[in-house]
Amino acid sequence: MAWDLGAGLDGRVVVVTGASGGIGSATTAAFAAAGARVVAVDLDTDRIGAALAREQVEPALSIAADLSRIDSHADLLEQVSALGPVYALVHCAAVLRRRADVRDITEEDWDVQLDTNLKASFFLCRSVAESMRAAGTQGRIVTFSSQGWWTGGFGGSVVYAASKGGIVSMSRGLARTYGPFGITVNTIAPGQAKTHMLLDGIQPEVLDRMTAETPLGRIGEPSEVAGVAVFLASQHASFVSGATLNVSGGFLMY
Ligand SMILES: NC(=O)c1ccc[n+]([C@@H]2O[C@H](COP(=O)([O-])OP(=O)(O)OC[C@H]3O[C@@H](n4cnc5c(N)ncnc54)[C@H](O)[C@@H]3O)[C@@H](O)[C@H]2O)c1
Repeated sequence: MAWDLGAGLDGRVVVVTGASGGIGSATTAAFAAAGARVVAVDLDTDRIGAALAREQVEPALSIAADLSRIDSHADLLEQVSALGPVYALVHCAAVLRRRADVRDITEEDWDVQLDTNLKASFFLCRSVAESMRAAGTQGRIVTFSSQGWWTGGFGGSVVYAASKGGIVSMSRGLARTYGPFGITVNTIAPGQAKTHMLLDGIQPEVLDRMTAETPLGRIGEPSEVAGVAVFLASQHASFVSGATLNVSGGFLMY
């Protein structure tokens, strides 16, 4: 084959959710730098604008959507279709509610995290995959798990960890389902990346212990996760599907 060391993403439509978050904004910047036309999705367009200004990047389109409302997905994809067929979905949006004492977890805590992190992910990924299938696009879907899928979580995050375990199983199932159409589905499992989600409410000693157990000896930068998403959507990952990529500085090894 003729090698081209570019990502093969020039002009492609890439949807990034959670785009005002730490990893989502870094991911938007990384795809834009690779030449993609990025659609940035999060709860609020003002917050998307502020986060992407910090990254010094302009998305092709910003859309406000509460993805936990499954009935918002059709309208979202309708707006995206104005740019052309979706080539990749990088689905970063998620919530973490820490409860230091497991006895304090409420049914609402469970529902919010499972609805946003897992249920919405299934319906959004399926809708995007179906649009790729209808358009004949051999596209890419990248989902987000966490080290918690493997460890069960630290710092009061057992429900979040359960939702992220579901992401791994679901993504493998979708990889099997859509592989015959040339669509890949892969998952990124970050360890610790310097974002609001990691740092909000975590006990400093928990973070220090995790950092001490990380061979690279530090917390990751959001851009170090974003680069993995670009790889998974690039032509270099064309035979990678159903994988869970551990991006933890060696905190976990699998
Ligand atoms: N930062 C870490 O150390 C870490 C570790 C493991 C996994 N992750 C995963 O990486 C991904 C990105 O996390 P992050 O650290 O950037 O978090 P973050 O909190 O900075 O960003 C998450 C974004 O998702 C958005 N979001 C939440 N609910 C939404 C909804 N209903 N509809 C639309 N958008 C919604 C938020 O507004 C926020 O901008 C998440 O899936 C997270 O679980 C992060």
